[in-house]
Amino acid sequence: MATKIVTYEELKAHNSKDSIWLLVHEKVYDVTKFIDEHPGGDEVILAETGKDATEAFEDVGHSDEARALLPDLFVGDFEKDGELKVKSATKSAATPSTAVNTAVQQGSNLMYFVPLGLLGAYFAWRYYSSGSV
Ligand code: HEM
Repeated sequence: MATKIVTYEELKAHNSKDSIWLLVHEKVYDVTKFIDEHPGGDEVILAETGKDATEAFEDVGHSDEARALLPDLFVGDFEKDGELKVKSATKSAATPSTAVNTAVQQGSNLMYFVPLGLLGAYFAWRYYSSGSV
C-alpha cells in the first residue's frame, strides 16, 4: 500500500486533545493515544501541533526507546512542496548531535586522563632518576 501523504491543512486540523498529529523528520505521527503516557507531559506536545516539531523533539534528546515508539504512531509522510517547508537537512539531525555529544563526552574523559597520565609520567621519572643517583 502506498504511504499516505499528509498535507499542511490536515496537520493543522489535528491540533486538539481529540486528535493530535505531530510532524517530526518529515513524517506525521498520531500521538492522540500516546499523549497521556508522554513522560514530558501533554502541554509540550500540544504546543508543537500544526508546525515542524523536529527541533523540539531533537532538543529534548529523546532516547532510542522514545524513537522506537514512532513507527506505531506513523500516519504518513508530510507533503514535500506544500506551504510549510520542512528542512530536509533536519532528517539526519539526530546523528550529528549524537556525535557531538559523544565527542564532548570523550573530551571530558580526556580531561581526566591527560593530567593523570602526566602525573604518572612525573612519578615514573622521579622514580627512575632517584634510582640512578
Ligand atoms: C511522537 C513524538 C514523541 C514521543 C514518542 C515522545 C516520547 C518520549 C519518551 C518515551 C520520553 C521519556 C524519555 C526518553 O525516553 O527519551 C519523553 C520525554 C520527554 N519529551 Fe517526548 N516524545 C515525543 C514528542 C515530544 C515533543 C514534540 C516534545 C516537545 C518539546 C517532547 C518533550 C519531552 C520532554 C521535555 C521530555 C522529558 C521529560 C522528563 O524527563 O522530565 N516530546 N518523550
